[in-house]
Amino acid sequence: MTDDIRWEVVEESSLSLPDHEAIAALLAQAFPDWSHWYVGGRSWSGMQPERRVLARDQDGVVLAHVGIRRMFITVGGRDVLVGDTGLVAVSPRLQGSGKGRELMERTHAVLDGLAVPYGFLGAGENRIPFYAKLGWHEFPEVVGTFSAFTAEGAGITNTEQGGWMVRPVAAALEDWPAGAIWLNGQEV
Ligand SMILES: CC(C)(COP(=O)(O)OP(=O)(O)OC[C@H]1O[C@@H](n2cnc3c(N)ncnc32)[C@H](O)[C@@H]1OP(=O)(O)O)[C@@H](O)C(=O)NCCC(=O)NCCS
Repeated sequence: MTDDIRWEVVEESSLSLPDHEAIAALLAQAFPDWSHWYVGGRSWSGMQPERRVLARDQDGVVLAHVGIRRMFITVGGRDVLVGDTGLVAVSPRLQGSGKGRELMERTHAVLDGLAVPYGFLGAGENRIPFYAKLGWHEFPEVVGTFSAFTAEGAGITNTEQGGWMVRPVAAALEDWPAGAIWLNGQEV
């Protein structure tokens, strides 16, 4: 019932347990390899978001989702405030019908409203073209060090090159510092 989709932007502390369960149910479908993470009311895998963009149907089922959290990361030795963006998901039955684009346009509006210098995300290789199409810029040479999602247990330190993507919000892309990224924690 795509005609009956209702979009919401919600703050984390306003979410009820049924809300978390409905989000987790979507994430388990959208990320089937990691469905064991999204059980019960566990609607996140690493850093818990502070704000969510949600689409629901008339029964309250969550059909699309993004989580955002403001945080400082270190880039080339400088602290940079970003709106870390993750848990990007569209219900499998709606994928490929433009809902991901709409989800990200709404996410961009939230980032604009937060007036962070940059949106930031880590994209899997096969998702980079999706975000690039929607105005995110990848730094393929840049190495990022981050803590693994604690949904897997200990948040051990990992390093990956490529897939780090930035969307300029209140600052210019040219002013993104050169150099390695240290997240000093988990991503959303
Ligand atoms: C990634 C995801 C959110 C995209 O949502 P979607 O509803 O399928 O995307 P849309 O139909 O709105 O596509 C928007 C545009 O991106 C393009 N696109 C989507 N996925 C793409 C991909 N993997 N590679 C290249 N382009 C892609 C579409 O062709 C479309 O382009 P167009 O507007 O020029 O026609 C969705 O497929 C999903 O939930 N996947 C599983 C979870 C996931 O991988 N999340 C991202 C983790 S980094």
